[in-house]
Amino acid sequence: MPKETLTITDNRTGKTFELPIVNNTIHSTDLRQIKVKDDDFGMMTYDPAFMNTALCKSTITFIDGDKGILRYRGYPIEQLAEKCTYLEVAYLILHGELPTKEQLTSWTTDIKLHTFIHENVKLLMEGFRYDAHPMGMFVSTVAALSTFYPEAGNIFDAGTRWKQTLRLIGKVPTVAAFAYRHSKGMPYVYPDNELSFTGNFLNMMFRIGTVKYNPHPVLERALEILFILHADHELNCSTTAMRNVGSSHVDPYSATAAAAAALYGPLHGGANEAVLRMLDQIDSIDKVPEFIKTVKGGEGKLMGFGHRVYKNFDPRAQVIKKLADQVFEVTGRNPKLDIALELERIALQDEYFMKRKLYPNVDFYSGLIYQAMGFPLQMFPVLFAIPRTSGWIAHWQEMLQDPEQKIARPRQVYLGYDKRDFVPIQSRK
Ligand code: SDX
Repeated sequence: MPKETLTITDNRTGKTFELPIVNNTIHSTDLRQIKVKDDDFGMMTYDPAFMNTALCKSTITFIDGDKGILRYRGYPIEQLAEKCTYLEVAYLILHGELPTKEQLTSWTTDIKLHTFIHENVKLLMEGFRYDAHPMGMFVSTVAALSTFYPEAGNIFDAGTRWKQTLRLIGKVPTVAAFAYRHSKGMPYVYPDNELSFTGNFLNMMFRIGTVKYNPHPVLERALEILFILHADHELNCSTTAMRNVGSSHVDPYSATAAAAAALYGPLHGGANEAVLRMLDQIDSIDKVPEFIKTVKGGEGKLMGFGHRVYKNFDPRAQVIKKLADQVFEVTGRNPKLDIALELERIALQDEYFMKRKLYPNVDFYSGLIYQAMGFPLQMFPVLFAIPRTSGWIAHWQEMLQDPEQKIARPRQVYLGYDKRDFVPIQSRK
């Protein structure tokens, strides 16, 4: 029976070390015994951007990037997108099991009891300029929520953690919609808990005056599916931020704001907005070859393409591409879809993209649907943050309950000056 160990020989000393292999990993602190001099710190791994480093053990989400597989708690994303509501999936991600009918009813009621935000939060949002980016408002306002619930810092009390979970999942759609209404100079529409989670969000976004807003069922379902697809994605940049910031034992609002700030970046959750700006810039199908040439020349990226993990089609992009047809039947076809399809057609047969295994990711088509549904470009990253809040919280809880986790504090390879003495200002050149 082969031994589950790794034998390493340090050729600087001729010494050999046998390290245990667990879950196909070696524990990096086992490398510290590898030294040249006894008082050396010992060996570390060097892994900028964590290209090959497992930060944690998790049972929440599984991705196989080569096969294009995504599962939440073992369930394939395609089945969940087809058969569930977003809150059903959020329950699964947080609890580990799909809810029974009673559990789902109680969970939905609990969330609906926490959709309102303190009136002072509205005043706080009034302070933003009329043209403030809604994602900047979202990040700031979620952080500010920590000041309204000081008990949230009691993170080791399960009941307190649960209350903040309900508040965060319940309130993020309200914060998002209020940010949008502020940017339009329109009065806020308060939550209507008679509606579904997504119906209520659409109502807060688009209702005008006293006229009852009835979200189109196809669009309401499409948003539900998009929320399911965006709910979690293991250790992406923003979830890593949630875990790292949460590891200092700060309250979950502050950690969620940090995660949302990471998501805001155009390489991450800001990509869906960047895709539409790219399509606007290309403007017509006949300019696609020229644009592809500039990308291959290193003058920019094909936004919505590529992924750190998926080296095959992002399964979410496949679902979204099919969903687009259903939405466009209701809203009318987004003319930019033709540019996107041409970009994909050319990229998938071009050596530059094939060699780098660049495929459409979750952001490539989602923005086309959001735009067709009437959301402005700047709201796209906010639409990503709403459902991802349940994934962030699930990872935050898993991190807190993992006995192996401590405050995140990586090491560095120091290549700076050795000791040198102070130089008085009159002697500096
Ligand atoms: C999300 O991690 C997650 O799970 C994220 C996410 C989630 O659900 O949380 O899936 C959501 O963030 C999806 C990704 C959205 N971002 C974009 O669409 C932005 C465009 N994509 C790229 O910036 C890039 O593909 C990343 C950031 C997504 C991944 O970057 P990596 O893994 O660091 O890869 P890399 O930048 O090292 O690229 C490898 C090569 C490079 O070329 P060379 O230097 O080898 O010549 O591929 C090239 C890159 O220049 N490349 C691209 C490209 N993406 C990578 N070239 C053109 N267009 C692109 N989109």
